[in-house]
Amino acid sequence: MQQLTNKRILLGITGGIAAYKSAELVRHLKKAGADVRVVMTKGAMEFITPLTLQALSGNPVHHALLDPEAEAGMGHIELAKWADLLLVAPASANFLARLSQGLGDDLLTTICLATEAPLAIAPAMNQAMWKDGTTQQNLQRLIDIKGKNFHVFGPDAGEQACGDVGPGRMLDPEVIAASCADLFETGLLAGINLVVTAGPTREAIDPVRYISNHSSGKMGYAIAEAARDAGARVTLISGPVNLPAPERITLKQINSARDMLDEALAQMGECQVFIAAAAVADYRPLTVANQKIKKSGDQIDITMIKNPDVVATVAHHEQRPFTVGFAAETQAVEDYARGKLTNKNLDMIVANDVSREDIGFNSDNNAATAIWQEGQQSFDSMSKHTMARQLIELIAMRYQESQQHPAG
Ligand code: C5P
Repeated sequence: MQQLTNKRILLGITGGIAAYKSAELVRHLKKAGADVRVVMTKGAMEFITPLTLQALSGNPVHHALLDPEAEAGMGHIELAKWADLLLVAPASANFLARLSQGLGDDLLTTICLATEAPLAIAPAMNQAMWKDGTTQQNLQRLIDIKGKNFHVFGPDAGEQACGDVGPGRMLDPEVIAASCADLFETGLLAGINLVVTAGPTREAIDPVRYISNHSSGKMGYAIAEAARDAGARVTLISGPVNLPAPERITLKQINSARDMLDEALAQMGECQVFIAAAAVADYRPLTVANQKIKKSGDQIDITMIKNPDVVATVAHHEQRPFTVGFAAETQAVEDYARGKLTNKNLDMIVANDVSREDIGFNSDNNAATAIWQEGQQSFDSMSKHTMARQLIELIAMRYQESQQHPAG
């Protein structure tokens, strides 16, 4: 299970022979779903090259505090704010000493001072250096000062690179990665690839005009964020909306229903849960004029043809994910929704009554009923954010259930 999905880990590497194991550590952190950035001390670069860690992490490696170019890219304060966890592995005796004194004389120690994220260290040094009174005192000082925001992973005992036997080996990289995961709560959708469609679509009439609708995208964006917070890796396929791009979500911006379908189909095979909250235009102009249509007679006719149904196509795909649709109705809400559940081959449909003025399209609130073949659950009027969280909980439960008892 990917317990570090959406988590940002800043890995500090200090100078010690165990630094070569940090390459393996980056791999384990990435495998667990984390986004990893690496900061190296001068000493660390004597043991392993920044290039290796750049290639493995997929991000540029940071090492200089007073490099204007690096600071212009992502400065020490930004790095400190970026991290959900600052992990220093290996942490040398010298590093512990500098950290315990609150020094900020290189990039890594400065970030340690500047971050509000938890700090974890995996000490690695010769056994005598580890047992040395000053090292132990430095460690104790850090534990006393930093309290619950500070974690010590290891060290392990055994044979050391220098031939000594005793405590001071860096913990196994896999164990360090698992210890990092233990620091975070595991979300209900940890490691799941989830796709959300949101917003309206625009169907072109000519180069400057289109047909669209009033969808604000708020519900879809709230669902995407709730799914991300539950640990899912989220792709949001969005029509044009006035909402900021949510953090830690892959945003695919589209215009038309057909663009949306292309993006959705590109996710098949990878995607495990698909939630269609978009208000897709049911019809589009049959032809799109190459030039702006000129004002002429009193009337013009635009012939419309049916758009593909994105969610139904996904739900009928041979690699179909667990698929959830929405139904905005003005009458016989549940009956119509149940019909769509079956016709579109959905696992669940969320029905809401858009004839009510207090909820729906452009409002911040919503009330709905989630319906599936064997049951249903109502959500009374509440903010779209609260509803999104509750819906994601329900979808996660139904999805897990479907995995345990696959249909057919
Ligand atoms: O049929 P109706 O438009 O009421 O269905 C609504 C549901 O179907 C929503 O989940 C919407 O995102 C999805 N839909 C779609 N493609 C369409 C029309 C609707 O994905 N062309």
